[in-house]
Amino acid sequence: MKEKTKLVASGRPRKRPFHPVNPAVERASTYLFPTYDDYIEGGRKIIYGRLGGPTHRALEEAVTALEGGVETRLAPSGLQAVNAAILAFVKAGDRVLMADTVYDPSRKFCENFLARFGVETTFYNPLAGESLADLMTPNTKVVFAESPGSLTFEVQDIPALAAVAHAGGAKLIVDNTWSAGVYLKPVSLGADVVVQAGTKYLGGHSDCLIGAITSADEDTAQSIYYALLQIGSNVSADDAWLTLRGMRTLGARMQAHEKNALALAKWLGKRAEVETVLHPALKSSPGHAHWKRDFSGSSGLFGIVLKPVPTAQLKAFFNSLRLFGMGFSWGGFESLCIHVRPEKYRTATQWTAPGPVLRIHAGLEDIDDLIADLERAFAVMKTQKGNAT
Ligand SMILES: Cc1ncc(COP(=O)(O)O)c(C=O)c1O
Repeated sequence: MKEKTKLVASGRPRKRPFHPVNPAVERASTYLFPTYDDYIEGGRKIIYGRLGGPTHRALEEAVTALEGGVETRLAPSGLQAVNAAILAFVKAGDRVLMADTVYDPSRKFCENFLARFGVETTFYNPLAGESLADLMTPNTKVVFAESPGSLTFEVQDIPALAAVAHAGGAKLIVDNTWSAGVYLKPVSLGADVVVQAGTKYLGGHSDCLIGAITSADEDTAQSIYYALLQIGSNVSADDAWLTLRGMRTLGARMQAHEKNALALAKWLGKRAEVETVLHPALKSSPGHAHWKRDFSGSSGLFGIVLKPVPTAQLKAFFNSLRLFGMGFSWGGFESLCIHVRPEKYRTATQWTAPGPVLRIHAGLEDIDDLIADLERAFAVMKTQKGNAT
């Protein structure tokens, strides 16, 4: 099956003759076993609500069809998917190698939380490929990648990272949220685990939080299952259902996000106020060659670096936007624009651009309206005076 067909056809009810097109929400804590033997067998089937029921299994099946691999398990947020995936493979005395450009709370989990339990983290330049081998030590158990990187969009060399990780006996975990699993297939490039914040594109409507963890092989899947089981992780059936509902239109939505983002990136690239556009599909973007080799498209999230502007002008710009909302997260149907500070979240590399960085999410609105919104905000910006930020 082709990608768009899989998104429509996977995780569907199969009972005949009467069944709904999409699975129903099944809320349950207790499941009753039909026989004593079924009760004793238990295993990884549907046994208890915390471990998910048929609604969860349907979504997991759909995500596995999208990402490849052998099994997907759900987490209550994208961040917990990241954390549980790492926890599954480390113990006191181990080390994690993490890209310097990961989502900041993923970074903080390692720096602040894992450190308390004797697990060290070393951050690496996201553009390191084979050279990551220089940082590998016998106690490195996880190499963590997020491609492209949060805020600055560096595209990583996943096959090279997989080779380095595996040569040292470590697992490669990839945060694949940006591509939604539609445009990048890390499992096929050597990743052991793929995580997604389904909160973004899978759900797609900015109304639920969820995470997904897909394993490339059975042993890895077993470790992920036990990590989630022992943490006591649980996802509501309603959120699993909403996410699967969102996935039915993922193929169409991603094409529309991609088209609008590329049009905005092109338009913004010609504006006098803009210093650089950070979009993996642009030649000038760091790691573009990896994007061209490994991705089949681009999503709706990208960045721009403005030329230095007075704070009053930046405020005026944001306060004049009517369609672009100012809010965290992304991947919903609506456009967003926020001021971000990459320099605060880097240690292995440095972000030195003097002007402000804006993260833009291109939603599904008409492109003419989105451009008019930005044009108006730039016009208002120019009317303000003040000192450069
Ligand atoms: C790349 C990436 N990974 C993970 C997360 C965490 O997802 P959630 O907000 O569902 O915890 C985010 C959230 O913005 C993200 O951007």
